Amino acid sequence: MKDQAEKLRELALKVRRQIEEELSTEMQQTRVMVVTSGKGGVGKSTLALNMALGMCAAGKKVVLMDADLGLGNIDIMLGLVPQYNIYHMITNKKSLRDIIITGPDNLKIIPGGSGVSELANLNDEQLRRILVELGTLDGEYDYMIIDTGAGISNNVTSFLLASDDVIVVTTPEPTSLTDAYGVIKTMAREKFGGHIYLVVNRTASGIEGMLTAEKLKIVIKKFLDIDITILGHLPNESIIEEGIRKQEPFIKSFPRSQAAANIKVIARNLMEGNAINTSEPRRGGVKNFFKKLVGLSKK
Ligand SMILES: Nc1ncnc2c1ncn2[C@@H]1O[C@H](COP(=O)(O)OP(=O)(O)OP(=O)(O)O)[C@@H](O)[C@H]1O
Ligand SMILES: [Mg+2]
Repeated sequence: MKDQAEKLRELALKVRRQIEEELSTEMQQTRVMVVTSGKGGVGKSTLALNMALGMCAAGKKVVLMDADLGLGNIDIMLGLVPQYNIYHMITNKKSLRDIIITGPDNLKIIPGGSGVSELANLNDEQLRRILVELGTLDGEYDYMIIDTGAGISNNVTSFLLASDDVIVVTTPEPTSLTDAYGVIKTMAREKFGGHIYLVVNRTASGIEGMLTAEKLKIVIKKFLDIDITILGHLPNESIIEEGIRKQEPFIKSFPRSQAAANIKVIARNLMEGNAINTSEPRRGGVKNFFKKLVGLSKK
């Protein structure tokens, strides 16, 4: 029979383990990922939104930021009407919690609006305040996904360079592939320190998706000496466009479709870091991301 002292020792050990576990999860930082493309209209927002929902369905806490300087459209894709955006936060009219809106499956959305371009012109006081606010997201969310506009303007490049991971979307069309290569080349030139992932959208078949991705991966390795990770591909399907018209993401309205199955694979590969990319994904945190972002855009 165990004596009293031994029982107490076991109890103390259990409590210590529990506390250590809680402390380590508390210190876990948010992983920040930016979705981009060279050419416009290739499906960045469609991917960002459905992938974020796929992660929510897998039990993760996700915040999606709409950083498209043009027509931000994550809210439109969900039929939501945000009242405020980052601009209201920068100008101290609203707090971060006031501007965040909630989508399906408790997905949180930060509407960027006109505030995104303002991020480059913050004074020290504004900067300090938004960093404190955004820093409160760290650890609370597993992932922050940022949807950007197309192209490699200075603004978009700053977002790419500040993030932990960049997800490049392309279609199999030569113009889209060339532009995707261009974005990756820019990141290479600017010495991007994170990892680059690739998704091929609007494929006619799974084989076309795989071949397109492999070819681009080989070219990037050969000419830029960068190892990118292929996350998967999405078929060209009318339900995706239909979903946009109905303001319902396809992963919710057509959960049994091929596209929904593929999105789940893409989300899983990204969350797990798949076999090709064996290193542990970087979790730089939201605060760090914005610190780097404003530093870069002021250059
Ligand atoms: N796999 C797909 N099959 C069919 N239609 C698609 C697919 N992916 C995207 N689309 C359609 O293409 C259009 C553009 O998609 P989306 O808005 O996601 O692109 P984007 O890259 O975010 O565009 P932008 O550069 O303007 O931000 C939408 O109407 C969308 O429904
Ligand atoms: Mg978009």
